[in-house]
Amino acid sequence: MSDTTLGAYNIFDLREMAMRRTPKGVFEFVDRGTEDEVGLRNNREAFERIKLKPRTLIDVSKRNQEIEFFGHQHKMPIGIAPTGTAGLLWYQGEIALAKAAAAAGIPFTLATGSQTAMEKVAEAVPGARLWFQLYMWPDRSLSHQLVERAKNAGFEALVVTVDGAAAGNREYNMRNGFTMPFQYTRRNIWDVMKHPRWMFGVLARYIMTTGMPRYENYPSAIKNKITGLPMGRASLRTDSLSWDDLKQLRAMWPRKLIVKGIMHPADAVLAADCGADGIVVSNHGGRNLDVTMAPIEVLPEILEAVGKRVKVIVDSGFRRGSDVVKALALGADMVYVGRSTLYGVGAGGEAGAARAISIFREEIDRVMALIGCPSVADLNTDHLVLPKNVKAPQR
Ligand SMILES: Cc1cc2nc3c(=O)[nH]c(=O)nc-3n(C[C@H](O)[C@H](O)[C@H](O)COP(=O)(O)O)c2cc1C
Repeated sequence: MSDTTLGAYNIFDLREMAMRRTPKGVFEFVDRGTEDEVGLRNNREAFERIKLKPRTLIDVSKRNQEIEFFGHQHKMPIGIAPTGTAGLLWYQGEIALAKAAAAAGIPFTLATGSQTAMEKVAEAVPGARLWFQLYMWPDRSLSHQLVERAKNAGFEALVVTVDGAAAGNREYNMRNGFTMPFQYTRRNIWDVMKHPRWMFGVLARYIMTTGMPRYENYPSAIKNKITGLPMGRASLRTDSLSWDDLKQLRAMWPRKLIVKGIMHPADAVLAADCGADGIVVSNHGGRNLDVTMAPIEVLPEILEAVGKRVKVIVDSGFRRGSDVVKALALGADMVYVGRSTLYGVGAGGEAGAARAISIFREEIDRVMALIGCPSVADLNTDHLVLPKNVKAPQR
């Protein structure tokens, strides 16, 4: 019997619900891409160009989607990607996501730019598989403070994001008046007032408890409210990050190290050479550079280049269980979902996030049955028909 929490049958239903609850400025920040949104569209279209080739007459009555990852059993082959705005979609939305992930037996990655402090998330969800995402700022000591805090708070993995040397050109944010940090304008005050569930359920709750939402992980030297002046902008630049920084992080961080935002096989090899344990093949969900290939399209050459030296996660555009099945069949070890669970949290907090995860579980399970593959461990390129620009990897 399928779960019908919130009346959502797929991720697109959750998206609609989140859109209705949330001010346009916030929703567009979550939902949209950059410039002409070519990358955003192509991330989805790339999945449509890959087809599945089903086998039949195989006993698929017992189906399994567990994976082994960094020595742990994950109940599903997905994890929740870092997204700095979960706490703007729901009061303490990061805790809602972490709880939903823990209940589903999958990892949750907390973003540097969260509205809930990493220690609070770790305390609120004991036993969760928590990873922490890091941006490297010009004053390295400030980023290194975060690494130390993540270590002390018990985070299992450090995810270093490397694809944000400049902020994406999100023109719609300028048009709709939503900027980070948030500025009061007549337009966005009206936008908030038109969404009373958000105004009372999210904004007012923050104001009555901890004050205007802030970047709670930022060291006090640069911590600011989302309504603050764009102070700290220069101190938040991420354009000086280099491979030497990665080597330094490797030396500092004793647990699993993951490099997020790899789109070139040569960079995947360099990440492995620096001692990374994993990489995320990602174009940031089409939010940064608009004109890259889709990660699913470059995945094969990256898998071929790194072989089994690192675990390979892929993200950007995953909205259906069949998308996940295709990535695993190509050879990815795991999939990250970003907006899918954000839509869930925006639609209904923890219950919505849990529903987003259960949609993936149900869809993956159904596709596995229909292609005659009882376990995700058995997926391979024989299950795929690939377009000309995607070649089957030899890993
Ligand atoms: C609203 C939003 C905020 C994000 N913030 C971060 C971030 O702070 N750090 C990061 O590494 N990635 C961030 N990402 C990118 C995600 O981690 C992930 O790569 C992307 O969402 C995957 O694409 P998808 O949304 O199509 O699943 C963000 C994505 C979204 C949608």
